[in-house]
Amino acid sequence: MSITNHLIAPSVLAADFARLYEDIQVVNNSEADWFHIDIMDGVFVPNISFGFPVMQAIAKHAAKPLDVHLMIVDPDRYLKQCKDSGASVITVHYEACTHLHRTLAAIKELGCKAGVALNPHTPVGLLKDIIQDIDLVCIMSVNPGFGGQKFIEQTYAKIKELRALSAGINDSLMIEIDGGVGTHNAARLLEAGADILVAGSSVFAAQDPVEAVRLLKNVSPMTKHA
Ligand code: DX5
Ligand code: ZN
Repeated sequence: MSITNHLIAPSVLAADFARLYEDIQVVNNSEADWFHIDIMDGVFVPNISFGFPVMQAIAKHAAKPLDVHLMIVDPDRYLKQCKDSGASVITVHYEACTHLHRTLAAIKELGCKAGVALNPHTPVGLLKDIIQDIDLVCIMSVNPGFGGQKFIEQTYAKIKELRALSAGINDSLMIEIDGGVGTHNAARLLEAGADILVAGSSVFAAQDPVEAVRLLKNVSPMTKHA
């Protein structure tokens, strides 16, 4: 039983790809809420992770929704394939979308929740005229492309600013934090207004990943949305 209602989304990027089935079962058997799936194209970010065939294989065994983070250019080309590969949430990057409003509408049309990810340098204020159309904002707390990086401290201020920006306009907006998240900063992120914590290395590199998820799930902020 969790203390708060925040969600935990372990990032499969940090799993052992040679033992993917076992690592999926670990997440299934934990208090995690979603699977976070990082798709990289080697163009938008300087790394290539895995593509839709692997995602389909994950979907076959995952007992929880797939939260897909598309770190690719021109994501419109792949939205349908992404949905057909098992996505419940599809998040595109603000920096990769020329017609973000159209892209979000296309994601919703497919029956998925529509997310927008912001690189660390992208101000949350740029979402002002689209905020009512977004289900989830993923604030990148590292530069996207790699797991295991150091958390960027400016993230706290961005969360608070986004909460203020969406207040009264989109109160069901979910704020997700991705990169360098662990028990050392989870409480402060929740206090600032985060709803979803993505955790890659802090879960899969832990001695006991199920316990690592339990600790993240049971973190209690002193005050929410302070
Ligand atoms: C980074 C990815 C993250 C990554 C997080 O580009 O979007 O989801 O897997 O990994 P950790 O939690 O290790 O920083
Ligand atoms: Zn991610």
